Amino acid sequence: MLVSFQNIALLALATGAAVVNGQSGSGKTTRYWDCCKGSCGWSGKAQVSQPIKSCDKSDNPLADMAASNACESGGSAYMCTNQSPWAVNDSLAYGFAAVKLAGGTESSWCCACYKLTFTSGAVKGQQMIVQATNTGGDLGNNHFDLAMPGGGVGIYNACTNQWGAPANGWGAQYGGISSRSECDSFPEKLKAGCQWRFDWFKGADNPDVSFEKVTCPKALTDKTGCVRDGETPT
Ligand SMILES: *[C@@H]1O[C@H](CO)[C@@H](O)[C@H](O)[C@H]1NC(C)=O
Repeated sequence: MLVSFQNIALLALATGAAVVNGQSGSGKTTRYWDCCKGSCGWSGKAQVSQPIKSCDKSDNPLADMAASNACESGGSAYMCTNQSPWAVNDSLAYGFAAVKLAGGTESSWCCACYKLTFTSGAVKGQQMIVQATNTGGDLGNNHFDLAMPGGGVGIYNACTNQWGAPANGWGAQYGGISSRSECDSFPEKLKAGCQWRFDWFKGADNPDVSFEKVTCPKALTDKTGCVRDGETPT
């Protein structure tokens, strides 16, 4: 009796460990675009080929990975506009996200890719593969904050400095703009990603997801330049 209880406890522990590793499960999403340097843009966050690319104020990739974040006073490194989402086809999109997984740290998720299957809202059943480029102090566990221009700046804002966006960013600080036509006034390089939200993403409002870690598509790592050690993007 005691022995079988122990076995059950061990099994529960082993099952729990897989969840704690945070590589699959169910989670939530939000959206943002703050124009800041992503946290996976710093050396030493994870074992990777190189940190994700950041860009200068004019959207040119920076060679200096140590350039300070434009969301801090005097910083010169911004999020590159090509870290915007796009539709592969009607059922699949690619993009980038700030991530926080239960029981993990940035070393386990920076530059990893996750296949999200939306489980609620207008996009239910559609899938999106995101590469983790960032995290956030205000994220909960198993939380994917999807990067989409016009999604709201959140806590930090370099968009006013970089693009002349309104003081609290485009639209509401949390949630951003509310109609596709507002994308018309965006910088040219952010328009397509802004419109994606109202086209492929159907204006969904923070849909839930199930997620699993997948090998990164090369189309994503080609944009960030960041590949986790031991992984070969496909
Ligand atoms: C969308 O693209 C993916 C990846 O190329 C493919 O596996 C899937 O079958 C496509 N879906 C549709 C509906 O075309």
